[in-house]
Amino acid sequence: MIKLHDKYFKPFISTQEIDDAVTRMANDVANDLGDEIPVFIGILNGSFMFVSDFVKQYPKPCEVTFIKLASYEGVKSSEDIQRLIGLTQDLTGRTVVILEDIIDTGNTLHEVHRIFKNEGVKQLLIATLFYKPEAYKKDFKLHYVGKEIPNKFIVGYGLDYDGLGRDLPEVYQLKTTQHMTNIVLFGPPGAGKGTQANFLKEKYNLVHISTGDVFRFNIKNETALGVLAKSYMDKGHLVPDQVTIDMLEAEVEKNADAEGFIFDGFPRTNAQAKALDELMNSKDSQINGMLALDVEDEVLVERLMERGKTSGRKDDSDEGIIRNRIKVYYDETAILEEYYTEQNKYFGVDGIGSIEEITERLCNAIDKL
Ligand code: IMP
Ligand code: MG
Repeated sequence: MIKLHDKYFKPFISTQEIDDAVTRMANDVANDLGDEIPVFIGILNGSFMFVSDFVKQYPKPCEVTFIKLASYEGVKSSEDIQRLIGLTQDLTGRTVVILEDIIDTGNTLHEVHRIFKNEGVKQLLIATLFYKPEAYKKDFKLHYVGKEIPNKFIVGYGLDYDGLGRDLPEVYQLKTTQHMTNIVLFGPPGAGKGTQANFLKEKYNLVHISTGDVFRFNIKNETALGVLAKSYMDKGHLVPDQVTIDMLEAEVEKNADAEGFIFDGFPRTNAQAKALDELMNSKDSQINGMLALDVEDEVLVERLMERGKTSGRKDDSDEGIIRNRIKVYYDETAILEEYYTEQNKYFGVDGIGSIEEITERLCNAIDKL
């Protein structure tokens, strides 16, 4: 991922892919034009890299020149095309091939056609390396297209975002969600995970997604997913991962402008961890790390027994149940520790000490993500 000005971009089209498209286009044009010597006209600024690579691949003699038009402001195309450098040579009777880096709305192309209307060229062919069909609003024919791309802003290989990014040899796509810090918080029962999650969400402006709460919310409000989940639970079946993931996705979408999420209670299995990665990926984001609070069993048992005396929670007063919950936790964590360690994303945090001390250790880990 890269950052230009205030925005983040992710790798989108590799140099190899660009190379292949350029070579194919050059050969297609050469085959179609036979012995005719074309005049290639690049539209500055964006097309300089494409033109350079294209004419290097073009297998026959040709002429090359440029005109300079400008339409884009920031990440939006404008109707108002400025002609900054026009035609400087007579093109009567010539075959002209326009080389565009990208065709978006087609406004620039409209201007190109206007420029050539009275030039008396033999033919005007349009070749564009990238083309956004969903954005195109004109009906001028595009004779050669390198690659169709979705209607998202891209940079690199000549294309810029407010001046930056033209020099990149590959193409990057704008990330639609801002850069987020997403953590999976793990801690054995009694480790103070809820307390810590509250501090972390305040400090980093994160949204705390507790899977238990999400389930209760959906079931209580009888959302479609809640009803579906309940139908499994009523039969004594496990709720399929996809249902849980869909609920989490709804939470993520509800908080689209969040600076990140704390996932709590999910994932529990390898398959769930993978599904969570896919979900974050589909949101142009990722899990940055798993933070697991380490607390010795004896300390946990003691704390939970103590809590059971006042909370009245049944599962907090029976030592056998407590020990079993701790064991289940470690069985689950071991699987996930492996999963996230493989990605260098596992961080064990010493969970013994005062609340402030533990918060500080967690923050140190997050700040390094
Ligand atoms: P159009 O006039 O809307 O077709 O846009 C054409 C011009 O806008 C291109 O020559 C680029 O300079 C610029 N442009 C369009 N889409 C993008 C993009 O995704 N990234 C950077 N520049 C773009
Ligand atoms: Mg351009």
